[in-house]
Amino acid sequence: MPIDLIVNGTRRRLEADPQRSLLTVLREDLELTGAKYGCGEGQCGACTVLIEGQATRSCLTKLGALAGKSVTTIEGLETGGQLHPLQQAFLDAGAMQCGYCTAGMIVAGASLLRRNPDPEEPAIRKALEGNVCRCGTYTRIVAAVRAAAATGTRTTRG
Ligand code: FES
Ligand code: FES
Repeated sequence: MPIDLIVNGTRRRLEADPQRSLLTVLREDLELTGAKYGCGEGQCGACTVLIEGQATRSCLTKLGALAGKSVTTIEGLETGGQLHPLQQAFLDAGAMQCGYCTAGMIVAGASLLRRNPDPEEPAIRKALEGNVCRCGTYTRIVAAVRAAAATGTRTTRG
């Protein structure tokens, strides 16, 4: 049975094993490689995407659970050739070293800003506490989220 879902605003029909993880399908079938495989166990946040606007671990999400749902990846945060304010803020703040955690951090931050457009530092740290940065750039990551909030964040898809 094909599974229909909306990925980054586009309806997709996937003929794939419903037991496969969303992360695998995104990366291998849809060539959306922004979400990363870190731990594969829900512990690091590198694979975070928005499902119906909620930050979700795509490594733990089975494709079969997503029929009719909306998925937004880091690639889908950009609109009309314009980076999402968080993407721009991460670049401006240099909030990355190796970059492996960055997509997950930005997507988790986007989920936070949808709920709370002007979070203080403690709320940002709480929202991102499940996202691991092995390079230790947390201070700049939090600063980038604050900066994006200050610019006023558009509503994102998802
Ligand atoms: S790869 Fe999904 S949480 Fe680590
Ligand atoms: S920038 Fe390297 S893991 Fe975060």
